[in-house]
Amino acid sequence: MSNQHWSSRYVFVLAAIGSAVGLGNIWKFPYIVGENGGGAFVLVYLLCIALVGIPVLIAELVIGKTAQLNPISAFENLSGQFRASRFWVLFGYIGVITGFLILSFYSVVAGWSLEYLSVFLQNGLLNSDAKAVEQYFSNLLDNPLQLLLWHSMFMLLTIIIVTRGIKQGIEKIISLVMPMLFVILVILVIYAIQQPGSSQAFDYLFTPDFSKIDTEAILTALGHAFFTLSLGMGAMMVYGSYLIKGTPVVRLSINIALVDTLVALLAGLAIFPLIFTHGLDPSSGPSLLFISLPNALLSLPFGQFFGILFFFLLLIAALSSAISILEPVVCAIEQKTTLKRNISTWFVGGVIWMIGVATLLAFNEWSDIRLISDKNIFDSLDYLTTNILLPLGGFGISLFAAWVLATKSNIRVSLGIDGITYKVWFLLAATIAPLIIAVIALKGIFPEWIPF
Ligand code: PHE
Repeated sequence: MSNQHWSSRYVFVLAAIGSAVGLGNIWKFPYIVGENGGGAFVLVYLLCIALVGIPVLIAELVIGKTAQLNPISAFENLSGQFRASRFWVLFGYIGVITGFLILSFYSVVAGWSLEYLSVFLQNGLLNSDAKAVEQYFSNLLDNPLQLLLWHSMFMLLTIIIVTRGIKQGIEKIISLVMPMLFVILVILVIYAIQQPGSSQAFDYLFTPDFSKIDTEAILTALGHAFFTLSLGMGAMMVYGSYLIKGTPVVRLSINIALVDTLVALLAGLAIFPLIFTHGLDPSSGPSLLFISLPNALLSLPFGQFFGILFFFLLLIAALSSAISILEPVVCAIEQKTTLKRNISTWFVGGVIWMIGVATLLAFNEWSDIRLISDKNIFDSLDYLTTNILLPLGGFGISLFAAWVLATKSNIRVSLGIDGITYKVWFLLAATIAPLIIAVIALKGIFPEWIPF
């Protein structure tokens, strides 16, 4: 049994939002919207959040809250208690392995935000032309030592917070950074929507053009729904395991998902107006934030100041998510071995740091190594975790919560719902969400089998 608990419901919600809101919302969402042509993709993504994301989030929190254990032990314990197959434990293991993999590339990108924060603070890009800004990013990627420095600093920060535990570490940092995050985001949006490109940005984000949607786009939208809500690997499960009895999980889940979605859309509104004002290409991919945005900012009034705000925002959003990726892995090692929390965190953090080194070498020394469909190590890890492992984990979590927990115990009380709301959740978690995941996954693997 976990002996840690959140101090209040409010800090739990803040921490869960902190987990959800991260690089996924501010870096990934805008660039994948850009790569997939705008509004239609946003719509598919919203559908994935509503039909799959929210039911799985509820499922994950309820498993955590019932078991009060790390993801592996939670599946072990509950499947024993309810005489279900031991096979379910597999999803616990998948989750923990996914955590290792995600944080290793997450930390590298978070490191870029440290680099850009420091360069904006030093005024280092001012007076550079567009070519120079582009060159700056490619020089960074070419420089393994610089990448290593920032990756190591970010991992160190994350590890130190997590070693301190829930109340002394995670709660403290969350209560500090989350209010800042919201304020900064609002300031950035107000600044951006006053630029001439803002009406084009609204159009781009909210006018769907369905010709842009293909199977790959749907798979990306589904994978991103998992990534952005921190689902499928046990992050929300361990956060749920620190909940006190009587917390209304369903209402909180809906609120968490709404805030996360709102933040992603606001991030889009903070970025795209600047991109369009400067006639830049919204579909430039992962470098959208690190080449296009600095370019746009540097030619605007107070660009340096808003650049500092922007990359600070990115950093704190990444940090509050990174701790939630490390927590379930640490919790699993701590509860399954005799290692103390401190040692487990340094051990797990060290292994993740090492995988991270391989990830950052993908941009330079090891750029020739290709793993999944000709992708480098970094892109392969991102693809494997976001588009395959998280949906797979979510598939298991959703089925387990519905078919094992809900049918064999009375979880309505801990869900805090009854009647129709419960039936809707059950329908979604037991059938619709797993079905959508299965169909999209099959379509990805055997395109000719599914006719759309
Ligand atoms: N949700 C986080 C983001 O959007 C990433 C994350 C994924 C966090 C999985 C925890 C678990 O950046």
